[in-house]
Amino acid sequence: MNFSSDTSAPAHPNVLKALSAANTGLEASYGIDVVTQRLRARLADVFNTDDFDYWLTASGTASNALALSCFCPPTGAVLCHAGAHIAVDERGAPEFFSGGGKLHLLRGPDGKIGAAQLDEALARINHDFVHETPAHVLSLTNLTENGTAYSVAEVSDYAAKAHATGLVVHLDGARLGNALVATGASAAEMSWKAGVDVLTFGLTKTGAMGCEIILLFGEARQKKRELEARAKRSGHMPPKMRYLAAQAEAMLADRLWLDLATHANEMARRMAEGLRRQGVDLAFEPQGNEVFALLSEAQVSVLHNAGAVFYPWMGGSQRLVCSWATTPEEVDAFLGVLKG
Ligand SMILES: Cc1ncc(COP(=O)(O)O)c(C=O)c1O
Repeated sequence: MNFSSDTSAPAHPNVLKALSAANTGLEASYGIDVVTQRLRARLADVFNTDDFDYWLTASGTASNALALSCFCPPTGAVLCHAGAHIAVDERGAPEFFSGGGKLHLLRGPDGKIGAAQLDEALARINHDFVHETPAHVLSLTNLTENGTAYSVAEVSDYAAKAHATGLVVHLDGARLGNALVATGASAAEMSWKAGVDVLTFGLTKTGAMGCEIILLFGEARQKKRELEARAKRSGHMPPKMRYLAAQAEAMLADRLWLDLATHANEMARRMAEGLRRQGVDLAFEPQGNEVFALLSEAQVSVLHNAGAVFYPWMGGSQRLVCSWATTPEEVDAFLGVLKG
């Protein structure tokens, strides 16, 4: 009964098989190997475009910080939700990598930036007023940190407004697969077609061992060299990149990543429905693989004593995360303990 995080889940067997298959012979280093180069075709297929460049890292924090640093100067800012991972859980990595760029925190319900808050923040940007820090980037997160999803229409609307004000749009897609399954959108619709310029596309939480892809779309490709230079400088240029690319290939083959995200979302739905049947309120409407349950202290302690693993979340709820490896039996066992 481990619902602590989708990063607690093991890697999918196909990922391990792909690593083994890539483990033959001598290969070029630093991303010019055959496997990393071959990944381009698979990404082109998934995102339905050739107009992109990509880079691989082993963590979402590195991806976010690197991606943002290419677009936010030390004297600039990134607009993001106050609960965004980049704001709360990355120990200042975006500020560090950008050499001092600020994060402007915006509010909004359910982990999503509110439309009025975004309008107000965009209206305040004045590059000629030296005393304030103008935003250069809008960063959205999908799936959000509250397990809710922005629709394609919402991302498109926000991106259009951001572009009209001269901002670049970043999407933290650490759980992109879960968001796509939740909304029924394709990867293309939720990214470049909606106006996303730079995407950090996570596969680790979905089932890889450690594989995050930074994608630069369209004009953002101009930053490719800078991204590589920053990756090198910060130590995120894996010499044996083929092993990261092999994971991505395995995850993207035959829609495995979407199948795994579908399963994780279904397990979360099972959990949410079971909790509600027992009268437990949820802090947010679950759309992906995370459920935020408003459990009493007594309920938390009964569950912990029975061996369930989960952690409290900001605002007083308990976060229950499902993954590709969560079984219906595990969810039912958790609900059974709660029922007593
Ligand atoms: C939305 C989001 N973005 C980025 C990350 C960063 O991932 P990592 O732990 O690989 O640095 C996480 C991890 O929990 C996350 O939830």
